[in-house]
Amino acid sequence: MHSVLPEHSDEFRTLLDRLSEKATADYYNPFTTFDWPKALPEDAYWMSRELLTVHGTEYADDLTPDQLKRLSRWESVNFYSLNVHGIRDLLIEVMRRVHTPGFEVPSEFFHHFVGEENDHMWFFATFCLRYGGKIYPEKKLRSPAAAAQPDPRIENFLVFARILVFEQIVDHYNAHLAQDAQLHATIRHINALHHQDESRHIAFGRRLVHLLWDELTASGIDDRVRQDIRAYLRRYIAHSVESFYSPAVYRDAGIPDGFALRQRLLAHPARHAAHQRVLRKTTDSLVRMGVLDA
Ligand SMILES: [Fe+2]
Ligand SMILES: [Fe+2]
Repeated sequence: MHSVLPEHSDEFRTLLDRLSEKATADYYNPFTTFDWPKALPEDAYWMSRELLTVHGTEYADDLTPDQLKRLSRWESVNFYSLNVHGIRDLLIEVMRRVHTPGFEVPSEFFHHFVGEENDHMWFFATFCLRYGGKIYPEKKLRSPAAAAQPDPRIENFLVFARILVFEQIVDHYNAHLAQDAQLHATIRHINALHHQDESRHIAFGRRLVHLLWDELTASGIDDRVRQDIRAYLRRYIAHSVESFYSPAVYRDAGIPDGFALRQRLLAHPARHAAHQRVLRKTTDSLVRMGVLDA
């Protein structure tokens, strides 16, 4: 495989140099940076109310403030669990590519990326284990399109498009949680630092995904392949949003019949509107690149 679009190389290199410098300047030791209190107050929200999966629906009105707080605790543990699993996947994929042909240019930045993601995975897992006593297991999306993909250009594109989608969805939550003055300082701190690191990863991801897409389309892919890629990414985006609605979380929060609640919430117009807000940046950037159609 040849390197990403040579005519964009200088510009891409400049971006990578700038992001690597910024990563060095922002560098922190995750193991000494955070205060980990023995416990977090139970009589408080751990997740902003407006980010809860029941927000804006009649199901939220049915819950007492105590039940909402309990739900917020388990939805926050679920959010950080999703991060742990998402990071494991992206680390595996980036590690498979660093210093291999085609990835000469971004490999230096990959070292920052991998180091930071290892730190993120550690502090998210620590939060789950310390305050939830567990990490929720992952519900993986089987991807026939990607698994059966013999073309490394398509596989590379899908890997980095998935990483970008995941990072932008998470960032919506991080940015909000970091600003919510009602949340405990440790929760705000974790989310603020993650948001800071991810702004570099997302700037990098947008550029790389755009380059890989241009390279792929310039090489000529037939329309059926293009439709398959779009359908797969739409499924991936939908699956990512749906993974916030967890029957195991509802059970831990003491809400009966979590499977049925999940189905009702996923069909709720207020939740569709909420998903559009969460996904706005994600879909905007993919539409701008021409990956998704508006
Ligand atoms: Fe991260
Ligand atoms: Fe990241």
